[in-house]
Amino acid sequence: MLPYFCLLPRLWTCVVVAVLLTKPVTADVVAPGNTTVNNAYLKTWWHSTGEINYQTPVQPGNVRQSHVYSAWIKSTSDPSATYYNSFVYETIPRNGQGQINVPGDPSSVSTEYDSVTIEADIWITMGWTQFLYASDVWVKVSRRGNNPSTASNVIIRPTNLGLTVTDDGAGNVYILVPYRSSGLRFSVEFQDNLYTYHDSCDGTSCDFVQDWHPSGPYYVSGFTSSTPVMGIEPHDALLIFASPFPPSSLVPISTSSSAYVVPQGLVTGLGSISQSTVYFGPGVYYMTGTTHAVLSSSVNWVYLAPGAYVKGAVQFTTPSANIKATGFGVLSGEQYVYQANTQDGYTNNGSNEYSLRMWSGYSTSGVQQTFMLNGVTTNAPPFNSIDFTGDLDTISISQADYKQVGAYFGQTDGTTLYKGSNVRDTFYHSNDDTIKTYGSNIAASNIIIWKGKTAPIIQFGWASRTLNNITVDGVDVIHMKYNSNGSHPSIVGANQVYNYAETQTNTANLANTVSNVYFGNIRAEGIGGNLMRIVPLANYNNVVLENIALDQFSVRTNGIYESELPVFTDTNDNPVRVSGFVIRNFTVGGTAISQAAGNYGPSSLGGLNIAPSLLSSGAVTIVP
Ligand SMILES: *[C@@H]1O[C@H](CO)[C@@H](O)[C@H](O)[C@H]1NC(C)=O
Ligand SMILES: *[C@@H]1O[C@H](CO)[C@@H](O)[C@H](O)[C@H]1NC(C)=O
Ligand SMILES: *[C@@H]1O[C@H](CO)[C@@H](O)[C@H](O)[C@H]1NC(C)=O
Ligand SMILES: *[C@@H]1O[C@H](CO)[C@@H](O)[C@H](O)[C@H]1NC(C)=O
Ligand SMILES: *[C@@H]1O[C@H](CO)[C@@H](O)[C@H](O)[C@H]1NC(C)=O
Repeated sequence: MLPYFCLLPRLWTCVVVAVLLTKPVTADVVAPGNTTVNNAYLKTWWHSTGEINYQTPVQPGNVRQSHVYSAWIKSTSDPSATYYNSFVYETIPRNGQGQINVPGDPSSVSTEYDSVTIEADIWITMGWTQFLYASDVWVKVSRRGNNPSTASNVIIRPTNLGLTVTDDGAGNVYILVPYRSSGLRFSVEFQDNLYTYHDSCDGTSCDFVQDWHPSGPYYVSGFTSSTPVMGIEPHDALLIFASPFPPSSLVPISTSSSAYVVPQGLVTGLGSISQSTVYFGPGVYYMTGTTHAVLSSSVNWVYLAPGAYVKGAVQFTTPSANIKATGFGVLSGEQYVYQANTQDGYTNNGSNEYSLRMWSGYSTSGVQQTFMLNGVTTNAPPFNSIDFTGDLDTISISQADYKQVGAYFGQTDGTTLYKGSNVRDTFYHSNDDTIKTYGSNIAASNIIIWKGKTAPIIQFGWASRTLNNITVDGVDVIHMKYNSNGSHPSIVGANQVYNYAETQTNTANLANTVSNVYFGNIRAEGIGGNLMRIVPLANYNNVVLENIALDQFSVRTNGIYESELPVFTDTNDNPVRVSGFVIRNFTVGGTAISQAAGNYGPSSLGGLNIAPSLLSSGAVTIVP
């Protein structure tokens, strides 16, 4: 919870009081002021234009800085043994712009649903800090505003990381972050700073309500058994992104003649440069809410240095076989409105074709291209974050140590994965389809998910597809806050044909088969959605869902936890063929679900509503 004075409409009161109450840091040797480090053990960075402001847009040249957290990092190997500052970024619902349609016009207020219901009005925030390390480090965290914490007040998610947390008795908390060659991405959660999301009804189709802000939307004066808890999240999130130092192949040389070093401030002219690399050094860049960078076709590499903060979006046009976005900087969509439509003045006018993607490109027909995304953080996407157009059979994604934060708006999908894509070591805050396995030969592993309320986590539907050889192995879902049955609140999902009613059960195409699919080693912490909603628009063969642990469902009367696997047909009433569909070692709250145990059905613990014909024929089996 924020101190009560932060509830006053005048933000300055809160900031002034918070600054006055900030405890001096005394318990450790700490580098003075905002001192950062850049040596063989550790690299941290700082923004001199940090703006502490959790309610309104920040100035173009400023970077929103956490109004709650400060962080310092100390290497356990560095003999200098000092804590160095690490800038704590912050992102907020709607970027403080309000629910507007026209960029920069606060009067263009919209009532069209953007999926943010109560979050802006109760001042939900998400902070993060990131650094590069070569050996184990301690991360020291303090909270502003006379707000000390002990270690026992802190839970790290995913909880199975088992990280050591200590405190110094003076209010500061310390987390030991072991070195991993794949980096580490996790959430630091103060148990005295949680927000409990309640639904407005105990039926299947409602939205969140709040009891904080009587003049705000979706207000209720109190919660009852008819306003069930749908999720519990930090009010002010804090994420830690620790990355190894990158190999030189991922860092361009800024002085090379092939690099265009972008001047800080307003970004212009990237569509008419002749270099192949666009280099954003440390500093702040902005494109405004009414343009984005359509790169000239010479550009096949965009580099965001650690400490680069770029407000804008990037579109590649190159026919190069290898397209890269690397570095530990941030690409932030915070200046855009929801669904910014590039053909309509970047106004909020939702279009699957023209709404702005943070990262996009055109895939040249007949040329196999790979988009490598390594290290970068994407903040506040106004729409799907990563999509290509053009020949989608000749583009694949290769993604590692990617972070997405601030995805409060509705249609903020994860990366669209085309044929041959691989994704690993990724953190997604996402409010829509997240792990989008839309092509064959996809491998995804070690993914942390913080899921908003729309659509399933793993999605491979919306059309009948032939898919073969897909592995999603290792997903830790640290939060889900589904509010309604209608959005397919599931770990694994294949939605009905886009823009069709789900009741249209004759929409399958039997020419397509989904085969050799493995979704396994998936853990979901806290209250969440169901195991699966699969609308079978194709035949299914050898599909394995294995080692999946769901912690908890919301109240039973709220029927959004029910898994569905019906039998669809083609227009001639021929049913899809299903074989070798196995659910193995699926647990709910630690209890194994199986046919043998008799606890799998829709009104049992497992909540699996699977067409009886599929179970009786052995096409689907549920085994411990
Ligand atoms: C510390 O902050 C000041 C003012 O905000 C800035 O001029 C200076 O560059 C910062 N130092 C570091 C190491 O970032
Ligand atoms: C929305 O944008 C599309 C282009 O994507 C345009 O054709 C349409 O007229 C716009 N709608 C409105 C209501 O302005
Ligand atoms: C299956 O997909 C993985 C991951 O993309 C790939 O490495 C492997 O070669 C594919 N197997 C076949 C038989 O194509
Ligand atoms: C069952 O799945 C859990 C994760 O959900 C895993 O920890 C456990 O090892 C699995 N059991 C077996 C026998 O594989
Ligand atoms: C929830 O939605 C599914 C469609 O995904 C539907 O089959 C089911 O009947 C709905 N459940 C309730 C309780 O409305």
